[in-house]
Parts: sequence; C-alpha cells; structure tokens
Amino acid sequence: MPSVSEDPSQKPLLRALAGEAVWPPPMWLMRQAGRYLPEYREIRAQAGDFIALCTAPAMAAEVTLQPIRRYGMDGAILFSDILMVPWAMGQPLRFAEGEGPVLEPVRDAAAINRLDPSVCAANAAPIIETVRLVRAGLAEEAPRTTLIGFAGSPFTVACYMVEGHGSRDFAAARGMAYGDPALFGRLIRILVDASADYLCAQADAGAEALMLFDSWAGLLAPSQFRRWVIEPTASLVRAIRKRHPAIPLIGFPRLAGPMLVEYAQRTGVQCLGIDTSMDLRWAASAVPPSMCLQGNLDPLSLVTGGMALETEARSILGAMRGRPFIFNLGHGIEKVTSPDNVSALVRLVRTG
Ligand code: CP3
Repeated sequence: MPSVSEDPSQKPLLRALAGEAVWPPPMWLMRQAGRYLPEYREIRAQAGDFIALCTAPAMAAEVTLQPIRRYGMDGAILFSDILMVPWAMGQPLRFAEGEGPVLEPVRDAAAINRLDPSVCAANAAPIIETVRLVRAGLAEEAPRTTLIGFAGSPFTVACYMVEGHGSRDFAAARGMAYGDPALFGRLIRILVDASADYLCAQADAGAEALMLFDSWAGLLAPSQFRRWVIEPTASLVRAIRKRHPAIPLIGFPRLAGPMLVEYAQRTGVQCLGIDTSMDLRWAASAVPPSMCLQGNLDPLSLVTGGMALETEARSILGAMRGRPFIFNLGHGIEKVTSPDNVSALVRLVRTG
C-alpha cells in the first residue's frame, strides 16, 4: 500500500504521463546519476567496476537518489544499464575505462543458442532489489518523485550484442538484419520476451513508469524501422500491458525524425522521448494532444550554461506550455557538465 504522502495523483510526473498539462512541467535528466556528480564518483570508486555498482543494491540505490537529494527532480531513474539484460542472459560484458561497453559479439546461431533467458531473472535479482530500495527511499525522502524503471529497446540492445561495442553505424547488426532476417528476428524475439519479464519485475518491485531507450532507432531505413523498432516495441508493450495494464510507458526512438509519427500511432506508449535534433513544435503538431512529450534540451547547452542555456530552455518551455510535457534533455547529460549549471536549469524550469 502506498502511503498517503505517496498518493500518485500528487506526483507531477505521473500526472503529465496521464495526459495532464502540469505547469511548471515536471523534470528529470537522462543520465542524471553519473560522473558529473562528485558524490557519484565517490561511490563509483568504492564499487570499483561499473557492473559491480549496478549489481550492488545499496550502492545503486544510493546513486539513484543522489540527484533527487541535490536537485529535487520529479523523476528518479533506476541506476543500471541497458546492457544488463544481455549480461543477465550470459553474454560476457565489461565496461572498459574510456572505451565504453565491450561484449563478446553474437553473430551466428550458435552464439544466439548460448544465450540463456532462463537465468535472466536470477542474475537481474540485485537490480530488482535496487528498485525496491529506491521506492522505499523515495517514500521517505521525496514522496512526490516518481520512480522510473527502464530497459533498452530490443533493436538498440541487439545493436550492441551483435557489434560487440559502440559504433557510429552498427553496420554488423544492421547487416545481419538485412542478410539473415530470420536470425536477427530470433535475437529480437529473445530480447522482447526477456525485456518484458525484466520490466514487469521492475514494476512489481515498485517502478511507477517504464522507459524504453532506443538510442540507435534513427539508423534504420523506414522499412527496417517498422520491422525492427515499431513491431518489436509494440509486442513488448502488449506483453507488459497483460501484466501491468496501467503502468505508463515512455518510448525514446532517438533520431527517428518523421518516423516518430508511426511510432506514436503503433507502439502503444503514452509518452515520447524527443531527441535534441527534433523541433518540439513539430512533434506536438504530429501526435495526439493527449500524448505526453519529454525532452529535449541539448546536453551541450547545459555544459555551456549562462545565456545559451537560458535561451534554449526558455524556448522549450514556450513551445510546450499548455500540453502534457516532461522537461528533460534530448540525450544523456555530458560528464563535463557543471553541477551548478544543472541547479540553474532546475531554477529556471521551476519558475515555468
Ligand atoms: O542516470 C541514468 O540515466 C540511469 C542509468 C543509465 C545508465 N545508462 C548508466 C550508465 C541509463 C538509463 C543508461 C542507458 C544506456 N546505456 C543507453 C541508452 C541511452 C543513451 O545514452 O543513448 C545506452 C546506449 C547505454 C550503453 C552504455 N552504457 C554506454 C554506451 C556506456 C559508455 C558511455 C559512457 O558514458 O561511459 C555506458 C556506461 C554507463 N551507463 C555509465 C553510466 C552512469 C558510465 C559508467 C561509469 O560510471 O564509468
């Protein structure tokens, strides 16, 4: 039972997700827990390695709450990573310093057969425990803040699984999708099922909204976007809806451009994460007025601060006033961002 002080009708972010034009808009920032914060760097050093941090519930819960304590954000996003799903299925993963994620690539049927979805829940158990701890922490410290769970979308996670590392074009993954669609489709289906279970477990543990990160959706030709982004996302949403009919879902098909419209019509998400490249007024004119939008300040304007930041933030607020909206960045916060610039942004958004 949620406490009275945790009444969901009092949480601005949940109200915006339900289609209300809350003003000033609720806000949070993608990657708000991270290396730009000294208190994060301290815990990260204690944990040693990034995966160790993601699977140590007390420390992961602590870093999730750090930006809430510092800035009073309306959303707390679970501290974890989209690549923890392949990791939990047994794909070797490490985060190399200054290099990003490195996975043992999955390029053929034998490698796909080695993935073991049956161990996913047991391996992900510490992450689900983090969700429980964060929800309890919020009830105590920040009863108006909404807990957001997340996963990567099947396509973006498959990109890293096939490529084995970050890339500008994910040519191996996109090549597999054209060259052996049956094999790529098998990988995508495994990810749809595993992600549905993982997201439902987060919801069972107290996540109040769920976000799907599709960072590389914009690499795809329209035919491929429909097949590998829209269809799997729609299946994933249906699978979640069977078990959690009412939980709000945020989809973030980064760099989708005009494909955003079909994504909005066909996936079943309530809210669209909008990337920095997109004109928010265009997005608002292209989707139903009740659909919440989230975004899309350029993370570099937050690095710069001052007038550049103010001008960009004010223009977003001006464009979104009167419709359901959640203020956010258009991509993750940069690690060179000054925490003071984030404070200045919070003050500006809070005055609407
Ligand atoms: O604060 C939050 O937003 C919650 C936690 C979160 C992380 N990653 C923590 C993280 C979330 C939601 C993500 C999502 C994620 N991870 C995405 C989708 C969003 C996007 O940025 O496009 C992707 C593509 C990944 C994969 C990933 N994880 C990469 C490419 C990297 C290396 C780049 C980098 O910034 O180092 C990571 C590592 C990672 N994930 C860090 C954090 C805080 C840095 C690890 C560290 O502390 O050394």
